[in-house]
Amino acid sequence: MFNTKITEMLGIKYPILCGGMQWISRAEFVAPVCNAGGIGFITAESFETPEDLRTEIKKMHDLTDKPFGVNISMVPEFGLPERSLQFCDVAVEEGVKVVETAGRSPKPLMPTLKGAGIKVIHKMTSVRHAESAQKLGVDAVTLIGYGSGGHIGMDNVASFIMIPMAVSRLDIPVIAGGGVADGKGFLGALAMGAEAVLMGTAFFATQECPAHNAIKERLVQTRETETCLLLNSIHNPIRCVKNKLADECLALEEKNASFEEIITAVAGGKGKLAYDSGDTDISPIACGQIVGAIDEIKSVKQVIDDIVNEAEDMMKRLNGITA
Ligand SMILES: Cc1cc2nc3c(=O)[nH]c(=O)nc-3n(C[C@H](O)[C@H](O)[C@H](O)COP(=O)(O)O)c2cc1C
Repeated sequence: MFNTKITEMLGIKYPILCGGMQWISRAEFVAPVCNAGGIGFITAESFETPEDLRTEIKKMHDLTDKPFGVNISMVPEFGLPERSLQFCDVAVEEGVKVVETAGRSPKPLMPTLKGAGIKVIHKMTSVRHAESAQKLGVDAVTLIGYGSGGHIGMDNVASFIMIPMAVSRLDIPVIAGGGVADGKGFLGALAMGAEAVLMGTAFFATQECPAHNAIKERLVQTRETETCLLLNSIHNPIRCVKNKLADECLALEEKNASFEEIITAVAGGKGKLAYDSGDTDISPIACGQIVGAIDEIKSVKQVIDDIVNEAEDMMKRLNGITA
């Protein structure tokens, strides 16, 4: 019942995407999203080498016969475009059908990806960047709003403003990124003209997520007012849980610490350390404001089924209002 340009383009049942999440979006986690009717993206930057990514893609073929994608994040701390291009080559060689690009313009990757007929969904944080991406020939764009988890850009515009604006200005499908965890947000995004939603935080807090249970419990306890923006001072804000590490990083930023000091406080694989150990205070934990709506750790399938069922109920409500 929710057939959209994105379900058609990607050959999926529901217009629900799980955005790439470093360390988290590995085969055992992405496959359940795909098997439940959505689509997830194996996140290349979880792997040290392109060959490790290849192994993970092969694992996906064992775990699902449904479409899946690869996320290639080009944020400055992950290194040069050469590394991203090597990941692209693996995606092409392994027959991946769709790539989510993020972090900076996908321009250097487009000849490789489009030359192989791969669908490119570029994820960004402003309508003007979406217009540029459309000119580059991407197949769809995901607009990330101010309340979303992870990198949110510098424009600080809410999804409620950006999504309808992007839908009016673009010809390619628009995906509403972030701020969604239930049927109300999902249907609201579709009502604003989005062809799909993309979620991170809601899937982060699921049973299949490979992070330690203590991290997921921390998400359940975190309210919508308890996230913060790290790295604003170096113009690369990331929305995270306001934990001990976040307070330390914010204090460094407050006293104008050097770029190296600030980066050293948050980077260096600390995220993986926290996810593995369950210590919720030793690393930045990316998460969106929608975390306040998450009050239990469900299975991935339950998250998706609940969204679809609630959206159907909301449709009945809307039909009742207009009757
Ligand atoms: C724990 C976590 C890690 C993330 N890592 C990445 C990443 O490596 N690359 C990327 O493009 N986006 C990353 N994101 C952003 C998500 O893909 C997605 O855009 C975002 O979570 C959507 O907002 P929401 O959390 O409000 O649903 C991450 C988000 C979270 C919560």
